[in-house]
Amino acid sequence: MANLKFPDGFWWGAATSATQSEGTVAGDGKGDNIWDYASRHYNNRFFDGVTTQETSRFYTDHVADIDRMKALGLNSLRTSISWSRLIPDASGTVNPLAVQFYRDVFQRMRDAGIAPFVNLFHFDLPMYLQTEGGWENKATIDAYARYAKTCFELFGDLVDHWFTFNEPMIPAEAGYLHDRHYPFVVEFKRAAQVLHNIVVAHCRGIEAFRASGLTSQIGIIMDVIPVYPRSQNPADLKAAHMADLFYTKSLNEAILKGHYPSELNEVLTQYGQRPEAVSAEELALIAATKIDLLGINYYRPRRVKARESLPNPEGVFAPEWFFEPYEMPGRQMNTSRGIEIYPEALYDIAKMIDRDYPGIPWFVSENGIGIQDEARFIRDGMVQDDYRIDFLKAHLACLHRAISEGSHCLGYHMWTFVDCWSWMNAYKNRYGFYRLDLATGEKTLKKSGVWFKQLIQANGFELTQTE
Ligand code: FCB
Repeated sequence: MANLKFPDGFWWGAATSATQSEGTVAGDGKGDNIWDYASRHYNNRFFDGVTTQETSRFYTDHVADIDRMKALGLNSLRTSISWSRLIPDASGTVNPLAVQFYRDVFQRMRDAGIAPFVNLFHFDLPMYLQTEGGWENKATIDAYARYAKTCFELFGDLVDHWFTFNEPMIPAEAGYLHDRHYPFVVEFKRAAQVLHNIVVAHCRGIEAFRASGLTSQIGIIMDVIPVYPRSQNPADLKAAHMADLFYTKSLNEAILKGHYPSELNEVLTQYGQRPEAVSAEELALIAATKIDLLGINYYRPRRVKARESLPNPEGVFAPEWFFEPYEMPGRQMNTSRGIEIYPEALYDIAKMIDRDYPGIPWFVSENGIGIQDEARFIRDGMVQDDYRIDFLKAHLACLHRAISEGSHCLGYHMWTFVDCWSWMNAYKNRYGFYRLDLATGEKTLKKSGVWFKQLIQANGFELTQTE
């Protein structure tokens, strides 16, 4: 039996986002974002046709929900501000009800001893910007900078940890290449332009923050999918290298080192896929921008092998021209999501940060397990989610090992607090410490919530040999 203790002051919390949890009510003044629009107009793409209309009702339940956070003993929690709630239309006018709502949320959290970690953008672009070209249009970058400045002015006194973006790769990859998120474009070069413009927006957000004179911290939340090659065969190693270059290094190097990898530029030039609108001023801004804090979202590894066929030269250019997924025999699967569970990657990520980006303070900003049909595990009114406790223990043990070897990890946030709406999957897979009954809106603590509370109280947990 090992007693795994975490550093004093470790951030124990959870993460959620505005669009996934708030819901809307008549008269709240919120404007549509791309998810409100897409979940109505492309309703068949969403599990059981559930839209963003109600989600987990945080807008109306926030007082009780903050009590629920407190009951778990969370010392921090990340959510996001809904841009289209705060600035509902193209006129740029601020919605006073949104200001009142977010000020109330952040103040109540502080009063309950829960530090609000506030993210400015979690995939939810206002529709009035999308119709003008969204992230492909440089005007969206200016609008983002104004929005960020407004947030710092309105809420800066209540927030100590700010984030510019959650998973900046996703709007580009899922929205402009892989046909998963609205606007369902499939074109690499446009995806690359979106990604670059988001990187610039991130820099402009940091710039606005520095100009605001606030003494709190600002960072970004990145999703890291560590890449593992099938074998040490040079062809497999090359495949892994390319997957990492496109999906991780492209962004990490820009944000954390101030420049895009030169190898990526070379490959994109060779294939005629470089985004066109990249100015010298923007590259200078990227080079000059520094963050204070890095959040890492980790859910799964990416196993790859060398391609077994040549890509169709007339097909759509994609990173997958250089590798293909590898299904490792014996891998542990989360069948609800169809993704591998691999806790050791959290250790590898910590080591990667120490090696490639030494000195950056970081924390696990999302980690979690989405399970379908959780009602089948209800006994005596409580979801007996032992699988989630096992998941937590396994991942935290790996994280603990990295910390004990010197990694500068400051905390761990679980996705998520109350079951929330997922992009496309809506309420199919549940992730929360509290179960949401969609029909009644009732929220009930799961067994994993009880376990997490004990973990926070003890600032650690006991791991038996067999675990
Ligand atoms: C992450 C997203 C988050 C949530 C989890 C399950 O990639 O940041 O919004 O949907 O996946």
